This record gives sequence, structure tokens and C-alpha cells, in this order.
Amino acid sequence: MRLLYVTANPHEEEHSFGLRTGRAVLAHIKQKYPEVDVQAIDLYNAEVPEIDRDVLSAWGALQAGTAFTDLPAIAQTKIAHMNAILEQFLAADRLFIVNPMWNFGAPPRFKAFIDSLVIVNRTFRYTEQGPVGLVEGKKVLHIIASGGKYSAPPQSAYAFTKTHTEAVFHFLGIQDVHTVWVEGTAMTPPEGAQALIDNATQQAIDVLPQFLS
Ligand SMILES: Cc1cc2nc3c(=O)[nH]c(=O)nc-3n(C[C@H](O)[C@H](O)[C@H](O)COP(=O)(O)O)c2cc1C
Repeated sequence: MRLLYVTANPHEEEHSFGLRTGRAVLAHIKQKYPEVDVQAIDLYNAEVPEIDRDVLSAWGALQAGTAFTDLPAIAQTKIAHMNAILEQFLAADRLFIVNPMWNFGAPPRFKAFIDSLVIVNRTFRYTEQGPVGLVEGKKVLHIIASGGKYSAPPQSAYAFTKTHTEAVFHFLGIQDVHTVWVEGTAMTPPEGAQALIDNATQQAIDVLPQFLS
């Protein structure tokens, strides 16, 4: 089984609640599930193009029959990077994602990552009945670190990074998306930080038998 560890945080790991939690969960996976092949993509140390005019023009040209090699060099580079992200995603059986909440959403690199995955006729297609996801056999475990608390109402109405991630993967055909919060980091005194991380780590470990089955 291939697990892709996706991190979307420019912080050093030691300064990040989410990345420290993710590392602890990964350590557990490596120890208890040695058969899992872990690959990683750090979105802040990878080429993750945004959808811009180069990309939109290239998509239009490709659809109209232009050969990839006839695209402008800059467009070829961006499309190749986006394709590499898509292929790495398609090759994975499980996605383990860690990101912070930034202004109620995810960091923009995570949105750009999503934008490389949602590709018509690769990961979804339109039918007369509406869009259909084409991705099968994957599950997602999503750790979100947030300064405030958003796991319960009424604040959960603002947990857009959770609901957006769920919506996108459901749209692609992945129904199994489980979220673990490392929440209230800004409300936790320094001496409580490790307990917060340990608690979230344990919550993630508890779902591993189901996630990795
Ligand atoms: C640019 C920025 C925006 C943030 N926006 C929010 C927010 O909307 N809600 C919230 O609860 N915390 C917010 N925070 C706080 C972070 O979610 C919190 O520090 C969290 O621990 C970050 O994850 P990390 O520790 O893994 O880096 C923000 C932090 C930054 C740097």
C-alpha cells in the first residue's frame, strides 16, 4: 500500500503543531505498519503551479488539438509539474494531509495542489446525470491545526478547510475522508503544547486500522 504524505506548511516542523502531529503519526505507521510505502510531498518545497493564464491557455490549446510540445516553454513546464502531482496522487492508495488553518481556509499551495488533481476526464467527468468522480480505492486522513476551535458548532460553520477538502475528494469519488483537529493552538499555553499534539496523534492513531485497511 502506498501512502502519500502531503504537507502544506512553510514552517519548520519543530514550530508547527500540525507537522509535529503528522510526524508522530508517521512514526507510528512506520513502526506498526511497515508494509506501508510512505512517499511525501512538501508543497512548500515542490513545484506546485497555480492556475494562471499560461495554464488556462495551455489547457485550451491542448483541448483544441495542439501538441504538448508545441505549447510555449513556460506552459509546458507548468503543465508538466501539474501532471506530476496528479500522477503521484493517482499512484497513491492513501493520502495523509497536514495543513494549518489560515484565515479560515488552507494555505494557497494546498489549493494549488487541489487544482492539479481536479482534472476533467482524469479524475472526474460530466455525464447527463451530472459530474461523476473517477477516483477509486483511496482514503484520506486530514490533520488540520488551528489557533481557535472549529470542530464543534457554531464555529464549525467556519471550518472551510475541512469542508472544502471533503467536498473536493468526495467530488473525485473518494468518500472516506477523516479529519483530526489539532485545535486551539493559540489558546494553549506553551506547557500544554505537547499534550495537544499527543491527543491529536492518538486520535489519528485510533483511526489507522480503518484508514489503512
Ligand atoms: C496567516 C495565518 C492565518 C491564520 N488564520 C487563522 C484562522 O483563520 N483561524 C484560526 O483559528 N487560526 C488561524 N491562524 C493560527 C493557526 O491556525 C495556528 O497558529 C496553527 O497552529 C497553525 O498550524 P501549525 O502550528 O501547524 O503551523 C492563522 C495563522 C496564520 C499564520
